[in-house]
Parts: sequence; structure tokens; C-alpha cells
Amino acid sequence: MSDVDPIAGFYERHPYPPAVDDLGPAARVAADDRTRRVAHHLIWPHRPLGSVQSVLVAGCGTSQAVRHALRDPGARVIGIDVSSAAIESSRALAAHHGVANLELHRLPIEDVATLDEAFDHVVCTGVLHHLADPDVGLGALRNVLAPGGAITLMVYARYGRIGVDMLQEYGRRLGLGTSPAEMADLVATLRELPVGHPLGRLLRETRDFADDDALADALCNPRERSYTTDDVHDLLDRAGLRFLRWERQAPYLPDCGSISETPHAARIAAVSPREQHALVELWRGTMARHTVIAAAADDDGRHDLDFAALDAAGWAPIVVPTALAVEERLPPGAAAALLNRAHVDTDLVLFVDRPHLERFRSMDGARTVADLGEDGARFVERLWRHDLVVVDATGGKDPM
Ligand SMILES: C[S@@+](CC[C@H](N)C(=O)[O-])C[C@H]1O[C@@H](n2cnc3c(N)ncnc32)[C@H](O)[C@@H]1O
Repeated sequence: MSDVDPIAGFYERHPYPPAVDDLGPAARVAADDRTRRVAHHLIWPHRPLGSVQSVLVAGCGTSQAVRHALRDPGARVIGIDVSSAAIESSRALAAHHGVANLELHRLPIEDVATLDEAFDHVVCTGVLHHLADPDVGLGALRNVLAPGGAITLMVYARYGRIGVDMLQEYGRRLGLGTSPAEMADLVATLRELPVGHPLGRLLRETRDFADDDALADALCNPRERSYTTDDVHDLLDRAGLRFLRWERQAPYLPDCGSISETPHAARIAAVSPREQHALVELWRGTMARHTVIAAAADDDGRHDLDFAALDAAGWAPIVVPTALAVEERLPPGAAAALLNRAHVDTDLVLFVDRPHLERFRSMDGARTVADLGEDGARFVERLWRHDLVVVDATGGKDPM
């Protein structure tokens, strides 16, 4: 790949996310044990914490690789990007924070094999949908996965971004460029966007619209695609990858949220998981991105969780840091509404009675399914499907 690629040129002029000198107090210290255990077991329920030693952040932009290196000082992190502006910003930020476990290379994803390394975790968010051929990029990333490795991939979602498509078309028709003056005019024009415009929700909710470079990234990108859930499954299949889960899965599941109360719930429950994802995406209508976790299709390492398995009794649920028990404005019989603050959809709430609330509160990351009483496995599975817990299925092998 060369600099004539419009995407490389675009990210030289508009590095993303907008460069910062300091990541703030939260990034200055390594993540606490619970946060690290949650991030790890979300992807690897069966592998002990600390077993992931190499991480590739592909298309790392200005700060993502530094964040990973800070969060996990025990891992060796490599960041690659085609934009020298992004690499330089990452380098300065790493030096500022005294990061010692990060290597950065100006390198296209398509040439990642030249690193001659395999990675336990490959992270590629917000990049593949800009590539000339996403299949080539994803295939290259799949080929550098170590045995038992996993990839976290984020691509734009089709339906929730329709407002962006509309404004991109508007910009194309008007011949808008990305100079500071033109961006300022665009911002002023967007401020007057009619209430109810499909872009309105995205403008309010996402960091993509926080400043000029971010706005340019969202609205003036020279090349991007968007994906339905079916497109994501196809993308993985073509790259020789196996779908493991959505990073936040409740928004895709028919037994979570209001869709589970509709007259169609039973019909949707009867179709394949892949078809369920497609139906729930169509029903929700507003998903703007898909973050998926996948493993090599021929990797026979254990990734899945079967809550009916014999060893499930020894699994330990860990409550995610963004989980919350709300005890107000509840329907009769409920003692709390359990929700994950990171969800955008407000219907993704699990109502629980008093005994289940107490069991939820007793989950300290060490108590096992067996300690949670008779319906422990079923309850933990419900919490897991609602993104309220992850499961440490190692049988107590995490270093504590
Ligand atoms: C929207 S930014 C995302 C940055 C980062 N992943 C994040 O989530 O903060 C896309 C990044 O991908 C990089 N990129 C685009 N095409 C690439 C390629 N073929 N190889 C490597 N990086 C690429 C761009 O330079 C840019 O820094």
C-alpha cells in the first residue's frame, strides 16, 4: 500500500481520535484486578488471567495502543497504522506516560505478516470498513493469530448510520472539503439540523462528533462501508474466523429487553442465533456499530460457555464494573432492575426479586455457580446474556 491511498492521506490530515497529550488520571494506572479480569474473561472464559502476552492493535490511531499498553503492563503490545501522524502521536503519548511495553510501526494491516509474529489478541476497531478490500485486511489479521487467540473487531453498522450516509451524500452533492473553514460551516449547518433527523441521535450520543477531526472522520471519510449482522458473519466466514460473541451481546439477543415481551418472541427464539441477530438488529433499528469477538475457525481451543456442562458448578461469575442495581420505579414483585450503564438501549434491563438481588450482590468474583443455590447456573447465564457478568471458567486458576 502507498500514500496514494486516499485513506492513508486522509488520516495524515485528520488523525483519529484527535491527538491528546495526556490520557487523564484513569489511564495513568494499570487497570484494577476486577476490570482486567472482566476484560480478559469476556473473551477467554477458560484461560487464566495473565495468559495473554501479546496484543496487536491494528490501525491503532493516536492513542488506542497506548491505552492497551497502560492497562496491561504484563503484555507486549504492538500498534500499527498507515498514518505517520497517528504513529507519532502514539509515540509522544507513550513517552509521556512512560510506557515500556509498546512497539509502534507505520505499517498497513495488509502487510502485518512482515512483523513475523503471532498474537494472542488482535484488536482492530474502526478500521476494516475503510480498507480497499476488508477481506484482505481481515485475512492478514487472522493469519497472525496465535493458537487460542482471539480478535476483537469493530465495524460500522448499516441501519443505525443511515443519518451519516445521508449527510455524506449531502456533502458529496455540495462538493464539501475538509478544510477548517469548510468544517466550521458544516458544524454550523448541523447545529440547525431539524429535530428527528436520523443523524440527531448519533450527534448526541457518540464521540465521533466531538470536534472537527472527529466530525471529518464521521462525515467526510473518503471510503467506508457499513455492515448488517449478516454481513459481519459473512465477513468472518470468508476470513476463516469463527464468531464467538458480540462484545456487548444483550442488544442482539431476543431474550433480552423489550423484544422478549413481544408476540414475536417465541418465533424469534425458534430460529438460529445468526438469524436472531439479524432480526433483533432490524427490530432495534439504531445500532451504529458492531463489535464482535472471533477466533480462527480451525482453532480447537475451548472458547464457548455451555452452562449445562458438568464443570459449570465451579465457574465464578464476575460482575462487570458498569453494572448497576436500580431499586426505584419497579414493577410489582421486583426488588431491583439490573442494567449495564454501557448499553445504549434503555430497555436492556433484567428485573430480579429480592433473593436473586442478594445472590447478585454476593458475587465477589470468587463465589462459584455452586455457591449460588439451586438455579445458580441458569441465573448466571441470564446475567451473562444481559452483559452483567462475565464468567471465569478456569476453576480458580486466576492469579489473585
Ligand atoms: C477511525 S481510526 C480508528 C483508530 C483506533 N482503532 C481507535 O479505535 O481509536 C482508523 C485508523 O485506521 C488507520 N488505517 C486505515 N487504513 C489502514 C491500513 N490499511 N492499515 C493500517 N492502518 C490503517 C488510519 O490511519 C486510522 O488511524
